[in-house]
Amino acid sequence: MSELRHIQQESSEVTKRALQLSDELRSRVEQLGLFETVQHAQENGFSYIRDPVSIEFNDRLREVALKIFAAKRGTNMLLDKDPIFEEVVLNPKLQTIVELMVGKDALLSQYTLSVRDKGARALPLHADQNWTPAPFPVHNQLVTFCWACDEFTKAGGATMVVPKSHINRRHPAPQEVKLAQGAVAVECPAGSVPFWDGSVWHGNWPRTIDGKRVVLHITFTRAYLRQLENYRYLDDAWFQDRPSEIRVMLGR
Ligand SMILES: [Fe+2]
Repeated sequence: MSELRHIQQESSEVTKRALQLSDELRSRVEQLGLFETVQHAQENGFSYIRDPVSIEFNDRLREVALKIFAAKRGTNMLLDKDPIFEEVVLNPKLQTIVELMVGKDALLSQYTLSVRDKGARALPLHADQNWTPAPFPVHNQLVTFCWACDEFTKAGGATMVVPKSHINRRHPAPQEVKLAQGAVAVECPAGSVPFWDGSVWHGNWPRTIDGKRVVLHITFTRAYLRQLENYRYLDDAWFQDRPSEIRVMLGR
């Protein structure tokens, strides 16, 4: 075996072990029928939650998302924009995968939606752990869910992903972005929720068919980087005459 193959295999084993389940989590995974989902995530760095909700719920969610998009009042920070968004992040299957991927008490980092029409362009390959320098830690730092309100197909502009690319534990180099070697379409029926860890190389295929692709993008991160002390009680007036660095260091 070449040295590179050996290193890759070792890295693969280590990253797989990093996703091992506690007894409590394992029984929840089994109860919710998520065993195959978890296995696929362990092997490939991405996976799918199948049927987390009824198709009626998914259709209602799609309608709400389209209304918010049409109102042009911002497509991010969805949590308090409609009660349905709370139901989504509290979904037991989604919460179980959050714990698997980024541990207990994980933090909701981003909650946005996108609507892509025919002609929507491709998004180049990248890993989501933008603030983490290489080599990425063995333990995954963040998980991204794409709630597919519409069917994901390659022609429909599905996410593209390079299976097992998380074992590289780095961002793709420019040439790797260009070639997108090994990239596959994340195809699934409407109402499914593909997800991937922060190290996996992924992007988007362009949309070449009619209709809209409505997606919720939900990211959770590990809790350990949260501040031990928080200054949330400080209001805007307190910050007014202070340097911007103070805002930045307090996450404002
Ligand atoms: Fe991404």
